[in-house]
Amino acid sequence: MERSNPVCEVCGLVPHAPRLSGTTHLVARSPAMQILLKRVARFAANSAPVTVLGETGTGKEVVARVLHANSPRAKHPFVAVNVAALPAELLESELFGHAKGAFTGAAAARRGLFEAADKGTLFLDEIGEMPLPLQAKLLRALQDGELRRVGESGTYAVDVRVVCATHRDLGLLIREGAFRQDLLYRLKVLTIEVAALRERRDDILPLALHFLAEEKTGARGFTAAARKILINYGWPGNVRELQNAVKHGAALAMGSEVDAVDLPDELNRPAASLSSPSTPGAPRVFKTLAEAEREYVLEVLEACEGSPSEAARVLGVARNTLWRRLKTYS
Ligand SMILES: Nc1ncnc2c1ncn2[C@@H]1O[C@H](COP(=O)(O)OP(=O)(O)OP(=O)(O)O)[C@@H](O)[C@H]1O
Ligand SMILES: [Mg+2]
Repeated sequence: MERSNPVCEVCGLVPHAPRLSGTTHLVARSPAMQILLKRVARFAANSAPVTVLGETGTGKEVVARVLHANSPRAKHPFVAVNVAALPAELLESELFGHAKGAFTGAAAARRGLFEAADKGTLFLDEIGEMPLPLQAKLLRALQDGELRRVGESGTYAVDVRVVCATHRDLGLLIREGAFRQDLLYRLKVLTIEVAALRERRDDILPLALHFLAEEKTGARGFTAAARKILINYGWPGNVRELQNAVKHGAALAMGSEVDAVDLPDELNRPAASLSSPSTPGAPRVFKTLAEAEREYVLEVLEACEGSPSEAARVLGVARNTLWRRLKTYS
């Protein structure tokens, strides 16, 4: 996605998001991802916290990076921290810093990640796992912009945009008493939801080709049989699983194309296609084409905030065509 060429051949980035550029290559061919990118472009200019939601491996971190790369903060750091990876005490000093002698082993004072991300973006991954006392401290930081190092009484101020991500249902965590409602209200003002890969199948082949090119092996494409498998598989591990499947395929491919047999075994099992992780083995209820179309068109229209011209553009149809369709729905 180069600034000089807003429509990328690989990702098909829409001209409506010309400010989306930067170092992260985000493949976004499907209407769902194009709508997401529009939202990213709008949020980029703002400094309010953003919450990125989506199943595991959908690309939440890539989206956060693209958001940063397109914001006025782009020249400043993007600091990522996985909240789930650190024990509570360590996490607090990692985030906020600590004074010399604040705890055993704290031989010197240390800056926290908030300070490291000053003028930039702090990405808090797996925010749902943040311990409650730290949630209170984060809320204070977001509300007053004032932070305090562990073992210090004074506060310091930073200019940091917080972007967080989770694959958990934060509403459920609140009901379980594991997440603060006031913090959620603060965080969810700007929300971006990354759809599961099975819900945006138009992205599968462009992503697969993108990952294959990264492998730098002799394989340049996929056979028809391999493409069919890739498109029909359920992808419970989403884009990350696709990336790994392509690596597997590239390593085994004999010629210039990855074949079905080169793909991981689980993709070749008959039950693999069209499965969804929430309903393993459950019989699928199919909609009629008209039902599916109506649902989809209305979903796009809603995502475009009711603008028919915008929805028509995303759907790739003329405005009149969309009008005619909408009339049949009423
Ligand atoms: N649209 C995309 N274009 C290019 N690469 C992508 C895209 N989405 C995801 N990826 C790649 O897929 C992998 C998983 O993405 P990422 O780490 O952002 O997912 P995640 O939603 O944060 O996952 P988790 O929930 O496990 O933390 C990464 O290697 C990332 O570069
Ligand atoms: Mg992640």
